[in-house]
Amino acid sequence: MEEDLKTSVKGQILSIKDLPTLPKVLDEVSRLVQDPNANTDEIAKIISRDQVLSAKVLKMVNSPVYGFPGRIGTVQHALVLLGFNVVRGIIISTSVFDMMIKAMEGLWEHSLGCALAANVVARAAGLADPEEYSVAGLLHDLGKVVAAVQMPELHEAVSQAVREQDLRWFEAERAVMGFGHDRINAWLARHWNLPGNIREGMSHHHSPETAQLYPETAAAVHIGDWIVRIYEYGTGGDDQAAVLSKKALDMLKLKLSDMDRILDEFAGQLAEVSDLDMA
Ligand SMILES: [Fe+2]
Ligand SMILES: [Fe+2]
Repeated sequence: MEEDLKTSVKGQILSIKDLPTLPKVLDEVSRLVQDPNANTDEIAKIISRDQVLSAKVLKMVNSPVYGFPGRIGTVQHALVLLGFNVVRGIIISTSVFDMMIKAMEGLWEHSLGCALAANVVARAAGLADPEEYSVAGLLHDLGKVVAAVQMPELHEAVSQAVREQDLRWFEAERAVMGFGHDRINAWLARHWNLPGNIREGMSHHHSPETAQLYPETAAAVHIGDWIVRIYEYGTGGDDQAAVLSKKALDMLKLKLSDMDRILDEFAGQLAEVSDLDMA
């Protein structure tokens, strides 16, 4: 892969800021989050100005994916319980929802299922703030959507390589574009100033052992991705069987025998999550 081509593809990817679906609200919220004097009231007020967006955010935060099912009445309350970064991640995902369902059929369900699974895994591993793992799971394959929207011909070539050469999706991306959606995710997360744990969950879910600062997030998203794939809830575009990294389990001090309990809990909550109507 020529360096020039890589650079130009990266530029094309990052022109996502020109896409109309990312609401202005997100910029304002992102700016306020950096401001040490900003408070929850102010941020809640900005989000609540966009009624369609805040209704979607409330719908999302009340699903079992974030661990507070049916208990959050206002955006303000969501910010207090889940934190700014989780709410920002949810705004990003609801904003790209329409794009996502058009770009790759089944990817939304795959993402939502991964969010739930990452939450269940994080809780089973006794990690703090499991909702942060949910949001990393929710956004873990976003790079695929952005690639599909910004570079439809390359996306089609990836999809063809998956079908014809029996490659995994991220291997096909590397063969066609020179990098995978994990790299795109890292660019996007930096571009949106997402915190390191969400960024590394997004950018290292295919090789959690290479995560620099937040290997737990990368490992939980990796396992979540595997879980949602073995349940075949939605699809991330792969044909091949999902592979669970033993290293990811070790990193969370989980044993293979813990997976029974984790899978049961995931299956128990999946029905409710699949009722979630985001349209
Ligand atoms: Fe992925
Ligand atoms: Fe995935």
